[in-house]
Amino acid sequence: MQFLAQYADWVYLVAAILFILALKGLSSPLGASMGNRYGMIGMLLSVLITFAVAPNPNIALIVGAIAAGAVIGGYRAKTVEMTAMPETVALMHSLVGLAAVLIAIAAVFHEGAAHDGVHRFELFLGCFIGAITFTASVVAYLKLSGKAGSKPLKGGWVKPVQIVLALAMIGFGVHYFTSENLQSFIIMTAIALVLGYFLIAPIGGGDMPVVVSMLNSYSGWAAAGIGFTLNNSVLIIAGSLVGSSGAILSYIMCKAMNRSLMNVIFGGMGTGDDSAGGATGETKQKNYKSGSAEDASFLMSNADSVIIVPGYGLAVSRAQHALQEFATLLTEKGVNVRYAIHPVAGRMPGHMNVLLAEAEVPYEQVQEMEEINSDFSNTDVVLVIGANDVVNPAALTDKNSPIYGMPILEAHKARTVLIVKRSMSAGYAGLDNDLFYMDKSMMIFGDAKKVVEDMIKGLH
Ligand code: TAP
Repeated sequence: MQFLAQYADWVYLVAAILFILALKGLSSPLGASMGNRYGMIGMLLSVLITFAVAPNPNIALIVGAIAAGAVIGGYRAKTVEMTAMPETVALMHSLVGLAAVLIAIAAVFHEGAAHDGVHRFELFLGCFIGAITFTASVVAYLKLSGKAGSKPLKGGWVKPVQIVLALAMIGFGVHYFTSENLQSFIIMTAIALVLGYFLIAPIGGGDMPVVVSMLNSYSGWAAAGIGFTLNNSVLIIAGSLVGSSGAILSYIMCKAMNRSLMNVIFGGMGTGDDSAGGATGETKQKNYKSGSAEDASFLMSNADSVIIVPGYGLAVSRAQHALQEFATLLTEKGVNVRYAIHPVAGRMPGHMNVLLAEAEVPYEQVQEMEEINSDFSNTDVVLVIGANDVVNPAALTDKNSPIYGMPILEAHKARTVLIVKRSMSAGYAGLDNDLFYMDKSMMIFGDAKKVVEDMIKGLH
C-alpha cells in the first residue's frame, strides 16, 4: 500500500473536488442525494490514501475505531427522529472538537517532536477552537434535547467572566507558543473547555439552531487546524469548506430571522429570549372564524390554485405523508397545488424540504419564498399547516414587532386562508398573528395529521 503514497496529493485533489461537488449538490433538493454520494466517495478516498501515507499505521486500532464509529453512526442514522436532528448534529460537532483537542495533545506530547513557530501556532489555535467546540456542542446538545434547561444563563457577571477566560486562554496559548511550555498548553486547553460552556450557556434554547450551525463552522476550522498539524492537505481543504459553509449558513439563518449573528451570540437582544423557544400561553381574545376539515377540503377541491405553507407543526405531527396524499388527490381533481417554503420554517435549515422529500412530494411543486411570494395574490386558497411566524404580517407592517423586517410568506394576500393548528397559541417567537383574525381566514383546529386525514376523507 505504501507505493500509493506518491499519488497521495492527486487523490487528495480528487477528494477535494468531490467535496466541492458535494456542497454544490446539497444546495438543491434535486442534487442532494448525488451530492451526498460525492461526499461519501471523497471521504472514502481520503481515508484509504491516509493508510498509505501514515508512517507505520496501527491498522488494527484504526480499522477497529472506524468499525465502531460506523456501527454507532449507522444505528443512530437509522433511529434518529427528524425532529431530533439538530441535537444529533450538535453531538457530532462535539466529536470533531474532541478529535481536534486529542490530536493536538498527541502532537504536542509526541516524544522527540520539535515544533517550529508556525506549527506551535496551529497547534494552540486548533486545540482551543476544538476545546471550545467540544463543550459548547455538548451544552447545545443538552439544551436541544431537553436534558438541560433551555433558559439562558443571565447576569451582569457573565460577560466579564467570558472576557477573563478568553484573555487567560490566549495568554497561556501565547506562553506555550513562545516558550513551548507544556503546562501552559494544558492550562490553555482546560480554560478553553470552560469557556465553551460560558459562551453557549447564556444563549436561549430557541437560538440553538443558529448556534449549532455556528458550531458546525467552528468544528470545520478545528479540523482545518488538525490538517496543518498532521500536514494533511485534504483535511485542511475539507475543514475550510465546512468552516465557511457553516458560517454562510449561520448568516443565511440570521438574515431570514432578521437577526444579526452578534444578536444571537450575545444574548438574544431584540426578540426577547423568554419568548424564544415557543411561548405556549393563549393569546388575547379577538374574533376569528373556525371550520371543520370537511369545510377545508370542500373549499380546496373547488379552487383553481392552492398553496400549502408547511411549518414546525407539520414536523411535530409527522403529517407530511398524509399531506402529500391529500395534495395528490387535489391535483387529480385539476387543482394547481404548490408548496411554499420559508427559509426558517421549522427548527433547522431545510427542515420542510427534508420532510416533503421524505413524503416524495414532486420537487417541481416545492417553491422557495422568493419564487412564490408574488403568486399569493392570484391564489384561491392558502393552506397554512403548523406554521405561524413565517406567515405573520406584523413582520411587514408593525414596526414595534420583534420580527419586523423578517421576510415572510405573504399568505395574507390570497383570497382565502385556511390555518391548521391546535389552538390560538403563539409560535416560536411568542407573538399573536393577525392573519388568524382576517375576514378571509378560517382556523381548522386539531393535530395537523388528524386534520389532513379528515380532509382526505372529505374529498371522497
Ligand atoms: P412556529 O412559528 O413555531 O409555529 C408553529 C405552529 O405550529 C405553532 O403556532 C403551533 O400552534 C403549531 N403546532 C405545533 N404542533 C402542532 C401539531 N401537532 N399540529 C398542528 N399544529 C401544531 O413555526 P414556523 O411558522 O415554522 O416558524 C419557525 C420559527 O422558528 C420562526 O420564528 C423561525 O425564526 C424560528 N427558527 C427557525 C429556525 C430554522 S433554521 N428553521 C431556527 C431557529 C428558529 P398550536 O400550538 O396552536 O398547535
